[in-house]
Amino acid sequence: MKISILGTGMVGQNLALAFAAKGHDIMIGTRDPAASVTNTAPNAYGQPGFGTWYQAQSGLELGSYHQAMVFGEIIINATNGLVTLEVLKQGQADKVGSKILIDVANKLQPVAGGMPMALANDEGSLGEEIQTAFPNLRVVKSLSTMNTHIMGNPALVAGDSSVFIAGNDSDAKAVTRALLVDFGWTDIIDLGDIKGARGVEMMMAIWLRLWGVIGNTPFNFKIVR
Ligand SMILES: NC(=O)c1ccc[n+]([C@@H]2O[C@H](COP(=O)([O-])OP(=O)(O)OC[C@H]3O[C@@H](n4cnc5c(N)ncnc54)[C@H](OP(=O)(O)O)[C@@H]3O)[C@@H](O)[C@H]2O)c1
Repeated sequence: MKISILGTGMVGQNLALAFAAKGHDIMIGTRDPAASVTNTAPNAYGQPGFGTWYQAQSGLELGSYHQAMVFGEIIINATNGLVTLEVLKQGQADKVGSKILIDVANKLQPVAGGMPMALANDEGSLGEEIQTAFPNLRVVKSLSTMNTHIMGNPALVAGDSSVFIAGNDSDAKAVTRALLVDFGWTDIIDLGDIKGARGVEMMMAIWLRLWGVIGNTPFNFKIVR
């Protein structure tokens, strides 16, 4: 399938490689492709800039947000959740029909000098905000509750850990589920309509605290029953 990833950060990079490894055609979307490809400055975590990373890859297309919205049969939102709606406006997401958008983003309030610890949504969720602003899209919330390296490689943590999906369109969730199964996910929990994104996004509050305790060792939630 043609899959577009909106976002040039760690999540966009990891998911681009994970989907490409499964044989999908990939376009990464960014504000200014020419600027992104020459951006070699390390990010806040000391990781290579997007340009350094991208120049070492082959077969991944890069385009504007709008080019990516047009290219993909499936769109992945891997942008900073605080700017997602602006990104989708820039991408003219209202003009691309009923494409599936898998939202892996979180909307986190930055904290000066430390890791974000607060959610920017007091009520509702980013998933719902996207669905309301772009009713043409079929939004599925998923993969936002784990470290980026696990998203396309669940075997990175021991055992059968859990991933959630929430969205209004059952066909879109079935497509998302198939993509997750292809990555190796087995415990895929359907939380119902897009309002389920509220619970999923609230998991960030505990996830961030766990990250503070566990550090960068990969970990994930497992729902035991
Ligand atoms: N890191 C993780 O392990 C993890 C796990 C689960 C979920 N998430 C979520 O995944 C998402 C992506 O995280 P990330 O760390 O890879 O990237 P990020 O730094 O949160 O976001 C990077 C993207 O946001 C875009 N952006 C920033 N400001 C913008 C603006 N004013 N207008 C338009 N676009 C703007 C950037 O555009 P340019 O390309 O143009 O610079 C870039 O593509 C976030 O929502 C994060 O919370 C992260």
